[in-house]
Amino acid sequence: MERKLIIAANWKMNKGPAETAEFIESFLPGSEELSERCDIIIAPPFVSLPAAASLLADSVVALSAQNVSDQDEGAFTGEVATCMLNEVGVQYVILGHSERRAIYGESDQFINAKVRKALTADLHPIFCIGETLEERESGKLEDVLRTQMSGGLADLTVEHMSDVVVAYEPVWAIGTGVTATPDQAQEAHAFVRTLLEEQFGAEVAGATRIQYGGSVKAGNSAELMAQVDIDGALVGGASLEAGSFRDLIANAVA
Ligand code: PGA
Repeated sequence: MERKLIIAANWKMNKGPAETAEFIESFLPGSEELSERCDIIIAPPFVSLPAAASLLADSVVALSAQNVSDQDEGAFTGEVATCMLNEVGVQYVILGHSERRAIYGESDQFINAKVRKALTADLHPIFCIGETLEERESGKLEDVLRTQMSGGLADLTVEHMSDVVVAYEPVWAIGTGVTATPDQAQEAHAFVRTLLEEQFGAEVAGATRIQYGGSVKAGNSAELMAQVDIDGALVGGASLEAGSFRDLIANAVA
């Protein structure tokens, strides 16, 4: 099954509207050619989404939020609703990132509520999973991934799954400079694909794009993307500078 690469820039809590605009103006030239072989997404912080949306209109680069509420509207101080993201022109939303799980205590059940809310609003979830070093070293990798997948994607249909991107991000590789080796990443991705097959059947397993995340950079994107079950990347640090993000994508599609 041919799966088009999908690479997303997760800026985390970096870049206000002015820096966002600066990045996009520098990144857009040349992006059309790259987008023939790779879907490209940028995920700025909430306050920078409107600036990004107006600069990305008519471009090949899609816009993502980094979170969304599981509620529609009302007394939820500090939250942002799906309809607000729709209004700004956001297409994707990162959900279940390990920083949300570890720092803000988001559970599989809560993440699942957000995934389902996003899907009802025509937003594409980038659904993140991944194990800590301790879990990997104590032989719990498969159990952790199975629990996160079945919990986070509970009650989704086969039709829903055509809008979902999965991101496998080993926690020990995020922001550490330590990348999973291509073999380690491929092994985990192949396992995630078997979980997709158990949950949704072979067709969904074959069609769903699984990104790798964790210290992806221009120097390793090609060998990671060469693995059969790696269909893209979720990139933090190396996505903050337009030139290095462009090189990372160029090497991935080469
Ligand atoms: P990193 O972050 O590329 O800086 O490791 C990846 C992520 O957290 O999505």
